[in-house]
Amino acid sequence: MERRKFLNALGGVSSLLMTSPLLANQLKTTGFSRAEQSSVMSGIWKFTVGTPEEITPQSTRSVEPSLSGLKSLPDIKVCPVEPLGELNKRGVVIKIPLKKEEYIYGLGLQFQSFQQRGLKKMLRVNSDPKIDTGDSHAPVTFFVTTSGYGIFIDTARYASFYIGTTKHKPKLTSKKNTKEDGNEVGPLNGAYLRKDVDSENEILVDIPHVEGIDVYVFSGPTMLQAVQRYNLFAGGGALPPRWGLGFWYRVHKNLKQDEVYSMAKYFRDSKIPCDVLGLEPGWQSKSYSCSYVWGKGFPDPAKMLSDFKKDHFKVNLWEHAFVHPTSPIYKDLLPYSGDYEVWGGLVSDFITKEGRQIYADFHRTEHVDIGVSGYKCDECDNSDFTGPWSFPELSQFPSGADGEQMHSLFGLRYQDAIMSVFNGKKERTYGLIRSSGALAAPYPFVLYSDLYDHKTFIHGIAQSGFSGLLWTPEVRHAESNEDLIRRLQTVVFSPLAMINAWYLKNAPWKQIGKKANNEGHFAANWEELESKCREIIELRMKLIPYIHGSFVQYNQLGIPPFRALVMDYPDDPAVRNLSNQFLLGENMLVAPVVAGESSRKIYLPEGEWYEFWTSKKYAGKTEYTIDVPLEQIPVFIKAGTILPLAKPSLHTDDPKSWQLTALVFGENTKPAILFEDNGNYAPELKEVRLIWDNKKHEGHLEREGKPSDHQYSVIAWKFII
Ligand code: GAL
Repeated sequence: MERRKFLNALGGVSSLLMTSPLLANQLKTTGFSRAEQSSVMSGIWKFTVGTPEEITPQSTRSVEPSLSGLKSLPDIKVCPVEPLGELNKRGVVIKIPLKKEEYIYGLGLQFQSFQQRGLKKMLRVNSDPKIDTGDSHAPVTFFVTTSGYGIFIDTARYASFYIGTTKHKPKLTSKKNTKEDGNEVGPLNGAYLRKDVDSENEILVDIPHVEGIDVYVFSGPTMLQAVQRYNLFAGGGALPPRWGLGFWYRVHKNLKQDEVYSMAKYFRDSKIPCDVLGLEPGWQSKSYSCSYVWGKGFPDPAKMLSDFKKDHFKVNLWEHAFVHPTSPIYKDLLPYSGDYEVWGGLVSDFITKEGRQIYADFHRTEHVDIGVSGYKCDECDNSDFTGPWSFPELSQFPSGADGEQMHSLFGLRYQDAIMSVFNGKKERTYGLIRSSGALAAPYPFVLYSDLYDHKTFIHGIAQSGFSGLLWTPEVRHAESNEDLIRRLQTVVFSPLAMINAWYLKNAPWKQIGKKANNEGHFAANWEELESKCREIIELRMKLIPYIHGSFVQYNQLGIPPFRALVMDYPDDPAVRNLSNQFLLGENMLVAPVVAGESSRKIYLPEGEWYEFWTSKKYAGKTEYTIDVPLEQIPVFIKAGTILPLAKPSLHTDDPKSWQLTALVFGENTKPAILFEDNGNYAPELKEVRLIWDNKKHEGHLEREGKPSDHQYSVIAWKFII
């Protein structure tokens, strides 16, 4: 399809952005060349080299930019950087200058590295990234720099980023060299060799197979604001429903309907909070590939879902997007799927409207209409090393995408298909996805995978925030009671607090050993461990108002709720490589501990900080080694914060979940801002401000909305000095 026609077919702002010749700069195609800047939106510029491909993250997107959010950022008139472009036989090369002391972050979920300067990355979707090559569940061709801007290369190709790693060979010159030129060689046949001293000070992006590319520049002026601008351009961050921020438990993959009831009863009877139950592959008549049809083990799913609803449980379904021959949608999807099978099923072409719609319609009528609240899309992340079960890069799809492009877009456009179901019903969802990519901030889906150790899980929370992604360090396997406790402590400080017990018939605290657990042999004194785990899960329930408030900032201002310290403190060299601790919102610093550690180093940036458990005060800009008792994950609250903690409840429908204890950390506090959210689609969020009067030593609320709509109340104020 011709590019312009394709874009017009998409309609809306995105096509406007992409096609107006006034907005794009054509770079010359021989050698690297410069272009004059022109603005796409306030603080965002686009540069075009040659003729870009029809299928890119930007051209296939369906969410509009958040114009209101973008307006809240400073209006920057001058483009902070000039990318240069070159068309060559391989494709396109983009060159971006690097300053001294400039550091680079992002490129999607990168588990083995944090700061990217000095590294080479080929961004390729892969479900099992073992070494630091750029392979990732969610590669994103976007990075930010400490110079306060971001660059997005709009491609679904496996682009390679050489981030200050390349050196040009010396050039021949007639000018005599001096020592200062850094050149010891020459003269050579009457000419001199001159080293290009700057060649390491650039980022080269190599995008093969293309005849053109669009490059977007997002200005800050700070690094955090550049990330905000990128997220808002994508549409603003996702706002999960409150139930999505509660506790999730995924049951054993073979549990039948009555056994799922028993598990639900166990949670309620034992007073362990749970908002969402996840069903794993066994709910379907066929799951590898998927039929999307309820299996024999679930004779009355509508009744089950309605009973669970009465008991305040939401239900999330596991699936992958590969369609089994017995699926009722198989025949309809045949013309809208790729030419290779995965797990014996069709690979839906979610880039086509029909592919999305056939898939979405069935999900609506068979699941969502009877009460399913969301999905976990497994194995959409390509595979080369875990058994090559995915489709090859040479695949062809009806949309015109090949397998390489489809890998980059598969998770993204799947999310569009599922979102169309919930948007159509005017409902909110929150789910899980194993692959995502560029411009993903607005999707209420959280990335997961179980292939990593606990330390890598923690790194993922800090690192994902640079690229508009959310990551859960799901709890699954634990080696010991200590390991289970430490993992659970981490996951409650993450975008999605979940135990994924897909291979355990009983809760992991009853028995850590897999075999014994499934045979029903419980550990001696398991109740003690259960009680410790309950307390940790209750902590999650207490944190929901604060986490929800941070997500509202993500939604409206593009500020990642979970982020690395360097985003807020870019000038502090001590946080440049810090990924084993992170910020939750602006005022909470979390430094998880892994099993085996009895102490850990923490770094507190500028300001004063209070340790959450002991209220002990610490000076900022200092590194400490602190003891880490098993019951306490290290959490620090910035002085001047009012931290609202909810009364723990078994689920978020409980009115108790709106009752707050306000912890006032230090003098001169800023108001805490929360939002009343009635759970509706596109909710009208009512702002509630918790204010502490330091002279009178009393707190009060300022709020929007009619008294009859009020939800939050403060039942106690605690001043901590
Ligand atoms: C894996 C997935 C697990 C679980 C399992 C079920 O691919 O990572 O979370 O869903 O499949 O078979």
